[in-house]
Parts: sequence; structure tokens; C-alpha cells
Amino acid sequence: TTARVTLDPRLSVGEVDRRLFGSFVEHLGRCVYDGLYEPSHPSADEDGFRTDVMALVRELGVTTVRYPGGNFVSGYRWEDGVGPREERPRRLDLAWHSTETNEIGLDEFARWARKTDTELMYAVNLGTRGVLEALDVLEYANVPGGSFWSDRRAANGTPQPHGIRMWCLGNEMDGPWQLGASTPAEYAEIASKTAKAMRQVDPGVELVVCGSSGAQMPTFGEWERVVLERTYEDVDFISCHAYYEPKDGDDGSFLASATDMDRFIESVVATADAVGAARGSDKRINISFDEWNVWYQSRFTEVDKITEIDQWPVAPRLLEDSYRVMDAVVVGNLLISLLRHADRVKAASLAQLVNVIAPIMTEPGGPAWRQTTFFPFAESARLSRGRALDVRLDSPEYDTAQYGRVPIVDAVATHDPATGSTALFAVNRSLDEEVTLEIDLTLLGEVTTMTAQVLADDDMHARNTLEDPERVALRELHLDRSADGVVRVALPRVSWVVVTLR
Ligand code: AHR
Repeated sequence: TTARVTLDPRLSVGEVDRRLFGSFVEHLGRCVYDGLYEPSHPSADEDGFRTDVMALVRELGVTTVRYPGGNFVSGYRWEDGVGPREERPRRLDLAWHSTETNEIGLDEFARWARKTDTELMYAVNLGTRGVLEALDVLEYANVPGGSFWSDRRAANGTPQPHGIRMWCLGNEMDGPWQLGASTPAEYAEIASKTAKAMRQVDPGVELVVCGSSGAQMPTFGEWERVVLERTYEDVDFISCHAYYEPKDGDDGSFLASATDMDRFIESVVATADAVGAARGSDKRINISFDEWNVWYQSRFTEVDKITEIDQWPVAPRLLEDSYRVMDAVVVGNLLISLLRHADRVKAASLAQLVNVIAPIMTEPGGPAWRQTTFFPFAESARLSRGRALDVRLDSPEYDTAQYGRVPIVDAVATHDPATGSTALFAVNRSLDEEVTLEIDLTLLGEVTTMTAQVLADDDMHARNTLEDPERVALRELHLDRSADGVVRVALPRVSWVVVTLR
């Protein structure tokens, strides 16, 4: 079987915003505590942060980190997490039925973000709180000094403002599971008031309004319309969230999950643009795809497990999915979908970063390791430079129960005019067939260096575990170049591939 892709550097979709390679840290399970923060770990630094985890975060190439939630944020009092540690209260975290010790809060996490060269993106609580608390935390974070909260920050040891640019106006406010879940009209009102007020403190903030927590939500579409009709001039982004899982053993549909992500993005863009058109506005609302991943092993079972009033564990093992090669191929394909929409998806966050549906796993007192999903993310973050290209793709198709006929091969490319380098990202979604991908380079000009790496395995269920942390890794792939300017590469079944050309 053969597929063909033509790379034309003139067919630009748009600049790839580096914030496309963001991630997400929630106070949930062992993401923060016993994850990135473990003061008793041999690798811990003076702040109690695991340096082995920080090294992996840098290697992953994460640009922004959304914090502190997630569902957690809708019950969170941010001021619990600042000031002298011995005075910080222990609180019930209703979202995950856990105890929040507040040992880590805004100042500590901002330090961690600085140490990992990531940009902090902060979510305010619009579930159980409102405009005033959002103003307080913004004042604490961004005002240089001379006011109550900014002076508190200085007194707490951080004289320089944190300078947080991107702010999320609540989290998944359409979800019945969310503390303070609202109707679109209710949410639109509080989001609009909060946004306007926040800009009075700091006109430089970039604001993300909540879209639907999934395209499968009954209010999807209507939610976006109503919310944007009220907040269009107040915000810069609308959020999308999506998690994918194999349903009833239907791996063919699961491998085509990016089809759903494509439609989701295009529907939200269309809705936002329709609202803009009706308002006669030149302004464009972009997408922050601020939660996305494969998530299924723990999704529909574990979360509701603990409900007893006397059981509020600290940092329990929650949502610790162990990813297979096939899951990583889907993650790689979702990145292709995000890149393909680089004109409008200007930020995204892989949910999450450490231990909780994460590319990085840790064992308390023990090692940290890369899950299979680490590899497509790290390479996409490292190699996607310049502009995303609208590639011409000709691929055989296959039938899926969920999405109808879809191409077996999916691909996108990026091209950096400054360096002349091109990166092609592709997946083979066939469960049983190798596909030869012909890459037509004739429009690229002179290409002297080529490399290819693949994520695939004879066992598509192989994983990296505590016992065998390096079972799955990237391999070099052979490229075959012919005189006619075509390069051939054999994509194994269920594989993710990146080809770099220069
Ligand atoms: O990422 C896990 C959870 O998924 C988040 O807390 C929530 O926003 C979403 O439902």
C-alpha cells in the first residue's frame, strides 16, 4: 500500500505558536505532591522539586503550564496557598475527594515554572467564587507593588511580580460534575464581568473563556454561541477540551480520533466567527485547546470511588493511566490535528504533565520515566518550527464505525523559512498493514540532510513501566531517495513518524 504527500512551503496555514506545546498541572492525585514536588526524594532541590522530573519536563519541551486546575480550581481558595507554610490550612478538595495541604501554592509553582523555563497560565475559580477573588489573585500575581496583595507577595518572598499573561476564566463550567456548574447565560455573565474587571487591573492579560468540556456535551455549540455573544469583546480565546478512548474494542475508530478533534476545532471556529460576523467585528477569537489527551483506563471508574465523609486522602494515586504504543500514535495524530489548525489554535495544553494521565511518571523515592506518549509530544515540540503547511495528501482509506471512511495515513508539516528546515509528521492508522509513504520534495528546493524517527512496536500494546521504563523508545527509520525528488519511507502499522528535511 502506498500513500503520497507533497510538501509545498508556499501553502502556509499559519505560524505555529509555541504555546501549542503547553501542558497542565492540576492539584490532583500525585501530579504535584509525590510528583513534581517530593522534598524527601534524593533528587529534590532546595525547594523540594524533583530535579529528575524537571529534566524530563525540559526534554519534553513544554512551553506553557496551565495551573492549578481543572475541576480542582472550582473549589480552590488561592490565598490558602501563599504565605507562611505552617499557617496554611488543610482543605477538602471536593473535585477529587482528597485533602489539599496547600504546601504548594502560586509562589512555589511560579518558582517551579521559572526553573523549568515554562510559562505559567493561571485558572481562576468561577465555580464557587467570583470577580473579587479573581481580582485579588491577579493583583497578587501581576501588580509590581504598593497595594495590599502585591505587598503581601513581596513580604512572602517574591518582590518581582509573576507577570502571568494568560488567564482561564474558570474551568468546564458546563459540566454537571463541576462545582458551581452553570447555564451558558449564567456563566457568560460572570465571565464577562470578571474579564472586564481583570483588564482594569492589567490590560495586558490574555483571557480564555470556557467553551464546552467536550464536543459530546448536550449543550455543545449552543454553549459557545451564548457565551461568546456576551464575552466576544472581553476575551481572546475560547477553550476546547477533548479526551479520547477506545470504545468497545474498536481500535480502528480510536486510531482515527483526530477526525473528531478536526471537526471539534472547525465547529468552534465557525461558531466564534458567526458570532463575530453578526456583531460586525473584525476581531477573531482563537482557540486554547487547554485539555487534550488519551484517557480511558481510569476515566469512568476510579474518580467516584471514594465518597466516605471520613476519607480524604493526601495525594492518592488517581488517573494514572499507563499508555501503550497505540495510545502514543493517537497522541501524535492529535498533535497533527492541532498543527493543521495552527491559524486558529494558538494555545494548547496536554492534560496532564506528571503521574495524572501524564507523559511523565514517578515513583516516590524512586525513578521518573517517560511514557510512550512522551515521544511524539517531545519531537513535535522540538521540530515544529515556523509555519504549519497545508500538505497535499493522497492516502488509501479505511472504514471506521465512528467516523465513516478516513485516510489511513494522516500528516502535517511545518516549514521554517529562517532556517529552511521542514518537518513532516505522519501516522499510519492501519491495524495490520505497513504503508509506503512517498514524500514529494520537488517544491522544497535543495534538500541535503534527511532523518526519520518512528514510534512503533511489534506489540502495539507495549508500555513503559516502573519495572521496564525503557521498553518503548523512538527508532531511526530508513529513508530511500530516488532521482525524481521523491523520498520513500515505510510506515509500520500503528506508527507515528517524523521526517526532517533540510
Ligand atoms: O484532566 C482531568 C480533568 O478532566 C480536569 O480536572 C477537568 O477539567 C477535566 O474534566
